[in-house]
Amino acid sequence: MRKQLFNRRPAREVGVEELLALAQREVDPREPASLLALAEPLYRLAGDPGLLQTCINHSLAYWRQGSTHFYSSQSCHIASRGNFAIRINLWPLLPADPRRRAILADVLSYFDYHDHNFSFITANYFGPGYETEMYSYRRGAVAGYPGAPVELDYHGRHMLDANTVLLYEQFHDIHMQLPPARLSASLNLMMTPENAGLTDQFYFDVKRGRIRDYVASSSHKRVNALGFARHFHDDRTLELLLRILETHPCSRTRVEAGRLLVTLAGPQALPAASATKMLRDPLALALWSRTAAVE
Ligand SMILES: [Fe+2]
Repeated sequence: MRKQLFNRRPAREVGVEELLALAQREVDPREPASLLALAEPLYRLAGDPGLLQTCINHSLAYWRQGSTHFYSSQSCHIASRGNFAIRINLWPLLPADPRRRAILADVLSYFDYHDHNFSFITANYFGPGYETEMYSYRRGAVAGYPGAPVELDYHGRHMLDANTVLLYEQFHDIHMQLPPARLSASLNLMMTPENAGLTDQFYFDVKRGRIRDYVASSSHKRVNALGFARHFHDDRTLELLLRILETHPCSRTRVEAGRLLVTLAGPQALPAASATKMLRDPLALALWSRTAAVE
């Protein structure tokens, strides 16, 4: 768990394009911690009160064209370039009604320990900021399916207040957030390499030291989309399943495609060389052997 603290916001402002250019020049995509080199420029950009307002007004003015900024009512995409993106997240209070409270808490991952499948640094943008409790783990050491044991290191509670920049490292940092005392917003600089979003995120049961579930994300939807092919398929579908099980970056998706191919076309449809590609990591092996045990 890494963070950087500041006393006072420097006077010189940093623009969105300048921050993205700095990221492309100074951040090593293979080394997430190198994002921290941009903690100060991100902190300076967070001092621009017009940043969010401009996006809100633009989206309201051009609503007919569809929003290019808001991909949910909590998340505002500011700009992106290459493998980096800047966004602002809103952290509202929870409503009193228990049903709406549970839904919103789930959407925002309040109280729910999770990791991320991308790395980012974050600064407080508005309000008092949220409190977060952090752990870390080593993804390479776990077979990542629900119920699998995981060794956790505890890193305490931290406030994303007006003077703090936090680093969240993909597949390493685990955290849960508490709703802030008042409406808050955070500004993120995210590393978005080609395969980000195609790999799994997990929820964790930190008391029992186990993976609790998958976070519903694009990889989750991709796995579900394969379910349609079970009912509607032709020869081309089988070819595509073979390609997916060999090449997809998400282990769960590869195994799901493999399972489906064998179900639809029999074990001979899965050549040994393809199976080796599909089972190229411990998670895929664990998922495949569980499949085999069930069938
Ligand atoms: Fe998170």
